[in-house]
Amino acid sequence: MHTDPLAFLGDELSALKSQGLYRRLRVLDSEQAARTRVDGREVVNLSSNNYLGLTTHPKLRERALAALVQFGVGTGSVRTIAGTMQLHVELERRLAEFKKTEAVVVFQSGFAANAGAVSSLLGRDDVIVSDELNHASIIDGARLSRAAIKVFPHGDAAAARAIVAELPRTQKTLLITDGVFSMDGDLGAIPALCDVAEEFGCLMMVDDAHASGVFGRQGRGTVDHFGMHGRVHIQVGTLSKAIGALGGYVAGSRALIEFLHHKARPFLFSTSHPPSVTATCLAALDVLESDDSLIRRLWDNTRFFKSGLNALGFDTGLSESPITPVIVGEGSLAMKLSDRLFAHGVFAQGIAFPTVARDKARVRTIVTATHTRDELQFALDVFASVGRELGII
Ligand SMILES: Cc1ncc(COP(=O)(O)O)c(C=O)c1O
Repeated sequence: MHTDPLAFLGDELSALKSQGLYRRLRVLDSEQAARTRVDGREVVNLSSNNYLGLTTHPKLRERALAALVQFGVGTGSVRTIAGTMQLHVELERRLAEFKKTEAVVVFQSGFAANAGAVSSLLGRDDVIVSDELNHASIIDGARLSRAAIKVFPHGDAAAARAIVAELPRTQKTLLITDGVFSMDGDLGAIPALCDVAEEFGCLMMVDDAHASGVFGRQGRGTVDHFGMHGRVHIQVGTLSKAIGALGGYVAGSRALIEFLHHKARPFLFSTSHPPSVTATCLAALDVLESDDSLIRRLWDNTRFFKSGLNALGFDTGLSESPITPVIVGEGSLAMKLSDRLFAHGVFAQGIAFPTVARDKARVRTIVTATHTRDELQFALDVFASVGRELGII
């Protein structure tokens, strides 16, 4: 009799269950909004990346519908064969203007943009010097490139410099950091890393997925926030978070973008965005460029909520952004905190190893521009009572 080759899956899942780390997918019964229904329960939603509330913005819905009616539901091809519509070209032109770079190429997701760019720009003979907390898509892109990967401690540009200084000057080297770290909400050491890149002639890359629409003038990202225009060769942004729709992009020189057109595998081998998604992103840029009230509200809400958590005595780490972790240590405690919050009407996901270090499990909160003060105060009150119940504060 043959043994079941899939038996290991059951073992892995049982191990997750016994460690209290097994997660069932929570299901939204309604739209992605600040207050919504999840698994049949009305909740204040602190789990989405919908920073500006654009997922449900009337202007974006309108443009998506118009494009759907005019151009249909899909493109039916990859970009390099027949899947490039005027809408894609227009979105890339607008994004390049927004990011103040020569050109932009749009990918199907931020993940594809990072993985596609890193894996095609670097090769077997090259080196990638990467912050230890960089996003999984950077790590996967780095592995696919076959370049040597050297990791520096989180945010430590001096350590990055020491690594680069040891490398032969002839070796192509990429210095890479997230702009905003997705699990901690702190900022990458961008100005200091730009100095290192210039001193040693490295390529400098920033993944601004969580900074797009959040940091910089009108949401142009951390490169704008730090005044680093012209010093970062490769900027990645996402259209899936603050922009409210789906997709990612690389911004940089015309030569970089043309190179990616020819070499980045997700661009070459995966179908392009449906016209409705592309039109939605164009409408989001119109909103960002014409009205900064959403970004101001996002930051007002961020200050209110973060200071409320700190006043209660929670450990919010080094967060400098609307991503505010509530760090509790043990993975099972983070999951219990998340479950108890949910039972009281607050949706904030628990995050444990391997997404974060084993002793740094947390509940991650993200406020948006569209939360009301009452909703945020309600969430703080629930955090206070559940935090005390579990002995966290
Ligand atoms: C830092 C970072 N980079 C890239 C991505 C990927 O972006 P997308 O969701 O558009 O694929 C994410 C999303 O989780 C992220 O947090």
